[in-house]
Amino acid sequence: ETRPRVLSGIQPTSDSFHLGNYLGALRNWVSMQQTHDCFYCVVDLHAITAGHDPETLRRRTRVSAAQLLAVGIDPQESTLFVQSHVPEHAQLAWVFSCITGFGEASRMTQFKDKSAKGGVDRSSVGLFTYPILQVADIVLYQADAVPVGEDQRQHVELSRDLSQRFNNTFGPVFTVPKPYIVKETAKIYDLQDPTAKMSKSASSPAGIIDLLDEPNRTAKKIRSAVTDTGREIVFDPENKPGVSNLLTIYAALSGRTIEDLTGAYDGKGYGDLKKDLAVVVSDALAPIQKATQGYLDDPAELDRVLAIGAGKAREVASATLAAAYDRIGF
Ligand code: ADP
Ligand code: NA
Repeated sequence: ETRPRVLSGIQPTSDSFHLGNYLGALRNWVSMQQTHDCFYCVVDLHAITAGHDPETLRRRTRVSAAQLLAVGIDPQESTLFVQSHVPEHAQLAWVFSCITGFGEASRMTQFKDKSAKGGVDRSSVGLFTYPILQVADIVLYQADAVPVGEDQRQHVELSRDLSQRFNNTFGPVFTVPKPYIVKETAKIYDLQDPTAKMSKSASSPAGIIDLLDEPNRTAKKIRSAVTDTGREIVFDPENKPGVSNLLTIYAALSGRTIEDLTGAYDGKGYGDLKKDLAVVVSDALAPIQKATQGYLDDPAELDRVLAIGAGKAREVASATLAAAYDRIGF
């Protein structure tokens, strides 16, 4: 295998991924299969840092995996697995936590952001150390690159620092990964507040289009998307964020350029744009929904695919862990 290896994970923290996840991340996961040796995991260990319900987690892990398959992650082409099926993640995370400085971990800004609401004293130690688990996720597979958005860059830096530190202290075991800032992925905004990114933690579900939303629901959300009092369909994210967001989604799902779209809607109103966009979105989601349902209707097949993925992942992960343990003196 000469293609560069990448590792990417997504948390099973909702019953459906949303259009932002799809257009900003998952669609790129699918296309990277052409150029990279891809390891993709549903990171359920990361989903328990802030309290959770076991049955909900179990359901979301399965529906997340089903959606990854449905959007086009090919289990023949990529290694698709659930993180908790590969115990080496937690084992290696312990090793890395012992070579991470307390101050160094304290400088991870996401802990400050995520613990802000409940306060540090009420946060779990797992929330504090989760960047170290993320380092283990990456280096277990000797990943050359990690596709990340800007907000995760600090974590890739940590994985570089820690893997280099381990190699220098105990001997060369780990590939030092490079961040791979993904270009050309769309950033999608909340339909009700087009200045905020579409996020599962949005204040209103009306602002989010879920991949598993029914066509009626999608159409309703798009119809009531916040625009502005003007009439002109132009792409101007600063002054017309609502309309611009709709055009971004339209372009991303139809393959048409923004210029083509603004040309085609010259002289038409927001209502026309929204009506057509609802069809474009529903048409794009229909095959994903059908394939997701197919996996949910056949749990044995989903289990089989995930067991094969875990087996492939463990081959690599157990070899890496054995090499690391040997160097450490275990
Ligand atoms: P959420 O913000 O809903 O909690 P996550 O943080 O779990 O989403 O993100 C999972 C992946 O989806 C990440 O790679 C993230 O960059 C991408 N992503 C999330 N929301 C958006 C968005 N609105 N636009 C583009 N990409 C997004
Ligand atoms: Na998030």
